[in-house]
Amino acid sequence: MRRQIVIGNWKMNGDSRSNRELLDGLTNAWTGVHQSEVAVCVPYPYIAMAADALDNSNIGLGAQDVSQNDNGAYTGDVSVSMLTDFGCRYVLVGHSERREYHRESSELVARKFKKAYENGLIPVLCVGETLEEREADKTFDVVGGQLHKVVNLCGLDGLAKGIVAYEPVWAIGTGKSATPQMAQDVHSYIREVLGPEGDQIRILYGGSVKPDTAEDLFKQKDIDGALVGGASLKAEDFVAICRAAE
Ligand code: PGA
Repeated sequence: MRRQIVIGNWKMNGDSRSNRELLDGLTNAWTGVHQSEVAVCVPYPYIAMAADALDNSNIGLGAQDVSQNDNGAYTGDVSVSMLTDFGCRYVLVGHSERREYHRESSELVARKFKKAYENGLIPVLCVGETLEEREADKTFDVVGGQLHKVVNLCGLDGLAKGIVAYEPVWAIGTGKSATPQMAQDVHSYIREVLGPEGDQIRILYGGSVKPDTAEDLFKQKDIDGALVGGASLKAEDFVAICRAAE
């Protein structure tokens, strides 16, 4: 049985005051025991604050990126050990915004993925096609190619130590979510690619998930939760999505 998981991705948003309010809103609303897992990936400067606020809650903490290197002369980078030192359990790798704005290649993403799971973090591997690629009927090729780079470096058993998030680039931040069927088709393809490990690995959908679209997405057989950007910035909306996963 795969446990559903909803992960918030705050991206580069908020300040001390608003982020504190958001954390308070989440911890006040998400109390008690739940079937599904919940986590938030916050910007680096707020990790210590979030670790403190989420301590004793059932909301996990994550970061949005990590270095492929251990430690040393890598100005501006943050290592896995720094993240675990502050209580992080998850880290996003290969988000399309990193692939696009920071030219992160699938090879680099694979190295980050490996470094994370070998050192105590659960990497969330983001994959997905652009609108152009979808229209050219290349969705499966693109997603398959992104997965293969990780499988080549880590093996299927390595990949199974993380989580996969299918995020069509055209659906991110656009308000244009994939339909549940479109998402399910790609999720089932991903599971097929993962072969024998495919049944265990959690595959999340991301891209304009909102409280009113979450439930139908979560009903799909191969969708094990969501990676939520915009709607994770409002405690009420994020918690409504988390409830839909129960
Ligand atoms: P969105 O972002 O929910 O705002 O579309 C999702 C993501 O980029 O992870």
